[in-house]
Amino acid sequence: MQIFNLFPLTVMKETITINDNEREILVNEIKKMRKEENDSHKNNYAWTGDRYGHEFLFSKKIFKNLSTKISNAIIKYLNTLEINTNLLDIYYQRSWATYTENEQSINFHTHSQSNISFAYYLLKPESSGGIIFRCNELQNEVARNIFTSSKLEKSLVKNPNAYNSDRSMFDLDQDSIIIFPSKTPHATVPNQSGKPRISISGDISLMLKDSNGFEHLMPNFSNWTKF
Ligand SMILES: [Fe+2]
Repeated sequence: MQIFNLFPLTVMKETITINDNEREILVNEIKKMRKEENDSHKNNYAWTGDRYGHEFLFSKKIFKNLSTKISNAIIKYLNTLEINTNLLDIYYQRSWATYTENEQSINFHTHSQSNISFAYYLLKPESSGGIIFRCNELQNEVARNIFTSSKLEKSLVKNPNAYNSDRSMFDLDQDSIIIFPSKTPHATVPNQSGKPRISISGDISLMLKDSNGFEHLMPNFSNWTKF
């Protein structure tokens, strides 16, 4: 017997190392941003800087070294998908920090306004929670909704595995980056470490340098006309 798994969702993990001094500077900067919002983050939902006016971290000089390293990882991801980066202008359209205290998490969501997204773990204590990806359209679901978790509870699905699961969890170490298509629903696992977890997320837009002959990727904004 042979099994062929067709049409994958490709999620890439890479390691990005920064020194302790740089980590401390970035962590302190993020803590400072978060403090400005008083106690508005004191609930089960993690603090995410993009909701509080801190969505352009990479325009700050102190994030330059990190963003350059992340850019290299993004290029590797595009190369894996055989997307020709020579034809593209690639932009960080948003970049922000998330600060997750004990018991906090982030619900399922997508970043529908961008092409590629990432999460880099700047501070990631053990048991501080991973990231979960969800699939809305399972190729193997031979009848609608038979692979949902309630069907697992009723033993219709005997064992969850890669063929029958609508979600997959990664619990990565500090200094890991995970890169994925922005349209992929994702959430975070509650932090159980008793210590804060800090990640840096970003959304990337791909734009054709020259859209002549192309229909489906964003044409270069230098040719757009403003109202
Ligand atoms: Fe996200």
